[in-house]
Amino acid sequence: MTGKPSILFVCLGNICRSPLAEAAFRKAAADAGLDAEADSAGTAAYHVGTPPDPRSIDTARRHGIEISHFQGRQIEQADFVRFTHIFALDHSNLDNIRSVAPSDHSAHVGLLMDMVPGREGAAVADPYYGGEEHFADTWEDVSRAAQSLVAKLTGQQRS
Ligand code: 4NP
Repeated sequence: MTGKPSILFVCLGNICRSPLAEAAFRKAAADAGLDAEADSAGTAAYHVGTPPDPRSIDTARRHGIEISHFQGRQIEQADFVRFTHIFALDHSNLDNIRSVAPSDHSAHVGLLMDMVPGREGAAVADPYYGGEEHFADTWEDVSRAAQSLVAKLTGQQRS
């Protein structure tokens, strides 16, 4: 790949899963010395301008990452040009991303868990109506995906 990778993580509300995916990716990229940009967005506008869910903030803090300053936003047309990769956290969000994508965009659009060998086609379950343990499961999924993605991008940058 030429140029810096830039990754957008997309869920429904941009307050639970995608901020954690962004945080896990930022940490994995920093640990690996990968120069990359990252952001997150929702397909819905329910939480535009609001910080992540307090349970996501706590989960990220448990892993040494501060996300309380993140602000929810909705995916927009410019994202399909600004980002090299757009990853959906589940299938319905992937469908919604594809339905708003401009016809001639250059970004790779796919399912996040497709990055994890053996977990292709899996969704990151929505923890919004669940408990703390669901947020821990979310973290497990997004951090595994982040590690795999960083390994892949690091390999591409070297080749
Ligand atoms: P997220 O979770 O898509 O992982 O941010 C949700 C957040 C809010 C809602 C649904 C899911 N909601 O219905 O407000």
